[in-house]
Amino acid sequence: MHYDAIILGAGAAGLMAAAVAGQRGRRILVLDHADAPGKKILISGGGRCNFTNIGTAPDRFLSANPHFAKSALRRYTAADFLALVEAHGIAWHEKTLGQLFCDGSARQIVIMLLDECDRGGVRIELGQPITDVAHADGRFRVRHGGLTHEADRLVIATGGPSIPKMGATGFAYDLARRFGLKVVEPRPALVPLTLGGEETLFRSLSGVATEVVARCHKAQFREAALFTHRGLSGPAILQVSSYWRHGDAVTIDFLPDMDPDWLIAAKRATPRLSPRRALATHLPDRLAETLADRLALAPDLAGCTDKALRAATDRLSRWSFTPNGSEGLAKAEVTVGGIATAELSSQDMQATRVPGLYAIGEAVDVTGWLGGYNFQWAWASGWACAQTL
Ligand code: FDA
Repeated sequence: MHYDAIILGAGAAGLMAAAVAGQRGRRILVLDHADAPGKKILISGGGRCNFTNIGTAPDRFLSANPHFAKSALRRYTAADFLALVEAHGIAWHEKTLGQLFCDGSARQIVIMLLDECDRGGVRIELGQPITDVAHADGRFRVRHGGLTHEADRLVIATGGPSIPKMGATGFAYDLARRFGLKVVEPRPALVPLTLGGEETLFRSLSGVATEVVARCHKAQFREAALFTHRGLSGPAILQVSSYWRHGDAVTIDFLPDMDPDWLIAAKRATPRLSPRRALATHLPDRLAETLADRLALAPDLAGCTDKALRAATDRLSRWSFTPNGSEGLAKAEVTVGGIATAELSSQDMQATRVPGLYAIGEAVDVTGWLGGYNFQWAWASGWACAQTL
């Protein structure tokens, strides 16, 4: 059978593009090597899928071209996706910071997308590797499960390589390169960072979490940071990890709400208090102990000069860690980098040099913050692409 379009990847972006194009009357085939569709959706948001963010705005995305995502995000918004979710009777709630989750299970989102695909007469073939992709005479031919399928258009929606044990691969990048498209160097993002050297001392705090402001370059996030047996995690750290590169420092403000002179005020009020106890009034005990040890102040506040206390609060507001790495693709929620946006039309995600070839979702060099932004990009880029399939 001849198709209007073949979509490679039955994930978030691929299913969205298939459903919308199918409902526009296009004959669509979706191919995937996984034995089930939407596997990353199923494990997302702790099984409840943080399916969008009502605060979606282009500045919450990383890309070599920060303007690229604007058009798609404007044309298919978080409100549009929410309307779809509601039309399917899926109950939802806002958790924090505009993050919308299913009340029930992420499976509801997969079922919704499959139902939408069904309405569009989309054919989905799973569980076989894609063994060949060819392009000749304006036609794309894809070999999957021993069959060759043919279409006028081909959509790369095979995502990024984070969490390979779920079947994630760098297939999108290899295929894009074969078509002569550039790929912005991919690296793990939304990923825990690891500490080595002297900073391994902080590993003894494994399990301790506190609200901080974490900064890396110009990015800063106020959320929880978590110490782990390998280094640092928690939402604030995952967020800055997307901006982090080897050799960069991450600075943490452990007491973002405190006045710079609070320790001096504490000395006036309670001179016999130890620095550790003073810190423990605002921080978890074990963290207060470790930070106080490292600040190496006198045993009580009375024994500390005002200058030393001011220096201590300065350090607490700009504690610098230099991670020696990250936990890598095995633990990364997404991959930054990907198929260069310079190769694609921001209107419909079509490759400017290869008419009929499209790339959508995480495969493209557009990466959202933690909090539902990556799915919103998958929906919006899938929807934009479907308009011209
Ligand atoms: P996606 O990865 O969804 O789909 C790609 C598809 O291509 C898969 O079905 C895969 O099997 C297939 N494929 C890959 N290689 C192939 C090959 N060689 N041949 C054939 N098929 C191939 N985001 C968010 O906004 N909110 C959240 O709550 C979460 N939570 C979350 C948790 C965890 C643990 C992870 C790992 C990720 C998230 N994310 C998230 C990120 C989100 O899952 C991700 O950004 C989207 O799934 C990307 O959608 P895509 O359709 O681009 O790729």
